[in-house]
Amino acid sequence: MINKGYDDSFIERLKFNNDIISTIGKYVTLNQKGKTHWGNCPFHSEKTPSFAVNGMEQFYHCFGCGESGDVIRFIEKIENVDFMTAIKILADAAGMEVPSFVGDDNVKEKKEKKDLLVKANKDAAIYYNKMLYTEKGKDALNYLTGRGLNKEAINKFGLGASIDWLDMVNYMKRLGYNEQTLQEAGLADKGEKGGFYDIMAERIMFPIINSFGEVIGFSARAIKDGKFAKYRNTAQTLVFDKSKVVYGIDLLKKLKRAENFDEVIIVEGQMDTIAMHNAGFSNTVACMGTALTKYHAKELKRFTDKIIVSFDGDTAGQKATFRSLEILEEENLKVYVISLPEKLDPDEFIKNYGKEAYQKLLDEALPLNDYKLKAIASEFDLDDNIERIKFIDKALEEIRLLKSINEREIYLKQLSEKTRVDVNTLQRDLEYKIFTSSQTQNSGQGVEEQPKAKDASFRSEEFILASILHKKPYAELLDKNIFKNSSHNKLYEFILKSQNLGKEIKIGDVFIAFDTQKDEGIKDIINYNFDAINNTEKYFRECVKNLQLEVLLKKQQDIIAQIQNTDVKEQKILLMQKLSELTKQINIQKKTN
Ligand code: UTP
Ligand code: MN
Repeated sequence: MINKGYDDSFIERLKFNNDIISTIGKYVTLNQKGKTHWGNCPFHSEKTPSFAVNGMEQFYHCFGCGESGDVIRFIEKIENVDFMTAIKILADAAGMEVPSFVGDDNVKEKKEKKDLLVKANKDAAIYYNKMLYTEKGKDALNYLTGRGLNKEAINKFGLGASIDWLDMVNYMKRLGYNEQTLQEAGLADKGEKGGFYDIMAERIMFPIINSFGEVIGFSARAIKDGKFAKYRNTAQTLVFDKSKVVYGIDLLKKLKRAENFDEVIIVEGQMDTIAMHNAGFSNTVACMGTALTKYHAKELKRFTDKIIVSFDGDTAGQKATFRSLEILEEENLKVYVISLPEKLDPDEFIKNYGKEAYQKLLDEALPLNDYKLKAIASEFDLDDNIERIKFIDKALEEIRLLKSINEREIYLKQLSEKTRVDVNTLQRDLEYKIFTSSQTQNSGQGVEEQPKAKDASFRSEEFILASILHKKPYAELLDKNIFKNSSHNKLYEFILKSQNLGKEIKIGDVFIAFDTQKDEGIKDIINYNFDAINNTEKYFRECVKNLQLEVLLKKQQDIIAQIQNTDVKEQKILLMQKLSELTKQINIQKKTN
């Protein structure tokens, strides 16, 4: 069978020859305890090992960040490469020939196209950088020097200049690139008269480099402030997506290899990043002026658990920014915020007050929630009773959303100090708020809009499947595939099929048969946490009963509907008999539960 473009038997041999323990062992120090090897997770920052590798099942799973996969997925992640390249790396290591890619030609074409666009962007970056040191590039170079950048800083960030509208296009054509490629790379566009021109002309060029060291696009600043946007960025291309890019991530990755750092500072712009590096804060990256997304968060999580947000003085307190910072928290990053005075950005602040003053701000950075409370307070005059009540209401609204009781208590105390209102009174107000909001939530939403809470039958399905897949001794196959959730149904089908072929499946096999990155349902089965369940054997029996009972109940409903719909007397009698049989069965099933 062909899966993901390669023959199953090839993948099987490839995995056999690249044992997961020794392959991962090259990147992570592993210690064996029982059947499992443990190490510090390479995909998020941690000090105590929660990264487990299972040699028998040929898969890994991190209990900290939830990342899991087989040996191929591991290489994809750690080397930051796609599936085909990971295959190539593993085949190389095992001295195997890679068979030609079959199946999805689109995948192959797309990969080749991506490689080409990255190469074009890199060649353009080299060209722009060279231009800085030519006669034509003098103004651009002066601009950068004027902003305090020396040659070392310029080359560290690969800065350059696009001088006029045609130079880069002509140069790239001489290197053999055609117009279509330049357009697809986001470098050039067709003008009104039909010719292709450099869309970034007359600008300072900041290459955008991903964590793999590939130039994927540019941000370009106008050399003279004028009628055009101050910055222009590469439009979305096959390789560039502004909302996912962390500017400076390649340098951060290099820094992490050279020295350890505890926290990463995030700023809004390229110039801020460079100024911070110049001042010695080289653990700084930027989000290119966009709202933070979960992609930014995940990328950062690979290098740290603690983010210090240092946005421009005028943005940090805005509501949209709060939401953006909450996204970092949702990915389990600890978030601290610096507030810069006088609407300054970090670059300007350091120029005006020096790096020691900035260090002081860093030391005084506030945890996100403290910062929020402070920002909300600043909107009100707390000496005025009416304003104070409004502030309390708004602050309690934020505190209500906090996850833990501990956190709520801490911020209630702060609120009490700020407003001189007794903490017990605030506590009662908070409880009332929690109560009323849960009421409106329950009544206001239609059935479909309910959050996807896992219901009892979903959880039963999960537990049964996880037990079977993880080969728990009590886990028996069901006589029928009665899984309702489509991911569960597919996975069970896969298990049955392997069973019928007399093949013992390893968890590692699931990663080849399914796209576990997209299919959360299957991923949750692989990452199932059995610790939360007391008597697993008993629970397994209960879950099976539950599912079987549901099948019977569904049948019962169907028969009742049929009875209501038929006018034929004989049929009605027949159905009634069936119904009473079924009801007996259901009662027995319920009793044995
Ligand atoms: P800022 O407007 O804060 O500029 O934009 P800056 O970083 O202080 O730049 P200088 O000091 O004036 O040179 C912050 C970031 O937002 C994005 C860019 O990534 C910029 O670095 N931005 C800004 C745009 O994409 N387009 C714009 O027109 C402006
Ligand atoms: Mn600036």
